[in-house]
Amino acid sequence: MARVALVTGGTRGIGKAISARLKADGCVVAANYAGNAEAAEATAKELGIKVLKWDVGDEAQCAAGIAKVVADLGPVDILVNNAGITRDGAFHKMSAEKWREVIRVDLDSLFYMTRPLIESMRERGFGRIVNISSINGQKGQVGQVNYSTAKAGMIGFTKALAQENASKGVTVNCVAPGYIDTDMVAAVPEDVLKKIIATIPVGRLGKAAEIAHAVSFLASDGAAFMTGATLTMNGAQYIAG
Ligand code: CAA
Repeated sequence: MARVALVTGGTRGIGKAISARLKADGCVVAANYAGNAEAAEATAKELGIKVLKWDVGDEAQCAAGIAKVVADLGPVDILVNNAGITRDGAFHKMSAEKWREVIRVDLDSLFYMTRPLIESMRERGFGRIVNISSINGQKGQVGQVNYSTAKAGMIGFTKALAQENASKGVTVNCVAPGYIDTDMVAAVPEDVLKKIIATIPVGRLGKAAEIAHAVSFLASDGAAFMTGATLTMNGAQYIAG
C-alpha cells in the first residue's frame, strides 16, 4: 500500500520540492501551509496533493490538522518537519518577540507535530521522521542566534527520539541544508548573500530538489538502518567556512 506522507510547510520552497518528490516516489502526500493560500492552491493543483492550513507552532491546530489528515488519508507513515521561519537580527538588538516566534515555529512545532503521530508509528512498526535543520544550526550564523538555536535543537531532538524508537521500526533523521535557492534565502540582503555564496566551494546556491532527494532517501524503506543521523548538504560550505 502507498505510504502516507505529511510535509509541513510543504507548498513552497524546499517543502514543495519534498512534497513533489514523495508524490513521485509513490506516496499519498498531504502538505501543510501557514498563510499563502494562493501558492498552496497552485501547488495542490500542480502536484495533485492535499493541502491543509494550520500554524505548526500551535499545539491545538496541529492536533486538529493531523486528525484531519489521518481521517482523510489514513495513518501517517512519513512525517517531514520542514516548516520554518527566520526573524534575523543582531542578538544585542533582538526583541523577545523575534526570539519566541522562531523558537515556537521552528522548534516547539517538533513536539506538536511529532507527539500525536509517534504512538501510531510505534504500534504499526513503521515510521520515518525527517527534520529539516540547517547549516546554521551546525555552525551558527551572525544575525541568527534565534534560528541557530532552534535548528541546533532539532538535531538533539532527532538523536534522542531516534534512540527511543530504534527498535520499533521508526527512524528519525535530520537533513541540514546549506543556502538553497528559495524565498527565505532571497530575503537576505543582496550584499550579504553575495559574500555568503563566495564561501560555498560548489560555487552556487543549492536547489530545493537536491534537498528533496536526501529526504526521499531517508523516507524510503531501504533507509531502515539509518537513524539519528544528520545528513549535511551544503556544497561543502560547512567544512570550508
Ligand atoms: N560578525 C560580527 N558582528 C557582525 C557581523 C559579523 N560578521 N556582521 C554584522 N555584525 C554586527 C554589526 O557590527 C552590528 O553591531 P553594532 O550594532 O554593534 O554596530 C550588528 O551586527 C548589526 O549589524 P547592522 O546593523 O549592520 O546590520 P543589520 O542589523 O541590518 O543586519 C544581519 C544584520 C541581520 C546579521 C544581516 O547582516 C543579515 O541578514 N545577515 C544574514 C543572516 C543570514 O545568513 N540569514 C540566513 C537566512 S536564510 C536561512 O536561514 C536558511 C538556512 O537555513 C541557511
